[in-house]
Amino acid sequence: MKQNLTEHFDQAAANWDKKQRRVRLAHDISTAIGRLPLNQEMTAMDYGCGTGLVGLALAPKLKWLTGVDTSEAMLSVLAEKGAKLSKNNVSTRLLDLALASSPEQFDLVICSMALHHIENMDKVLANFFAALNPDGYLAVADLDEEDGSFHEQDAGEKHNGFDRQKLQRKLADIGFRDIHFQTVHAIDKSIDGEQKSFPIFLVTARKS
Ligand SMILES: C[S@@+](CC[C@H](N)C(=O)[O-])C[C@H]1O[C@@H](n2cnc3c(N)ncnc32)[C@H](O)[C@@H]1O
Repeated sequence: MKQNLTEHFDQAAANWDKKQRRVRLAHDISTAIGRLPLNQEMTAMDYGCGTGLVGLALAPKLKWLTGVDTSEAMLSVLAEKGAKLSKNNVSTRLLDLALASSPEQFDLVICSMALHHIENMDKVLANFFAALNPDGYLAVADLDEEDGSFHEQDAGEKHNGFDRQKLQRKLADIGFRDIHFQTVHAIDKSIDGEQKSFPIFLVTARKS
């Protein structure tokens, strides 16, 4: 029987940061997000934050970072790492935006490599919009549409990446403006003896 998604991430949390591939990917994503005009007055939510590989790299540029995830074990690792930052400006929240809206507003919402795991992503994207202050920024990084071979083991992924044009239309329909895509990374894998490259996009947008 397929393992529950939250259990899968709970079990992976302690060793999550040991995979250099994940660290390199998060570095490229956080570097690209860091080119947005961030400042020390801004609050941010890192949704599907995991151990905070992306969010914690950006926390020193921000007033406050809230890591949000459905895995308590991931949030515990993030909290432990966040407490070591000299700025001490990190908190965590166990929340599923597919089920409930955010009780807080933010100037920036980040979501890195989490959206493809979420079945009701339309609800989550609408809740990102609702959670943003006026003119707030959205930054979502994920896989371009692929043939399903990216996840070698079934980790409960609900989407085989995303078609950029379809995602752009979804974001525009929700009310986002200034929607820009860029390729920030590519993950190379050998699948059944064949070398494959999986591009990772970052889409940034603003709340109208
Ligand atoms: C592939 S990891 C990415 C972690 C981190 N953002 C990074 O880039 O290293 C996906 C994360 O999304 C979380 N997640 C899965 N479904 C979720 C949901 N419905 N709401 C919030 N987080 C979710 C998982 O627990 C996991 O921490």
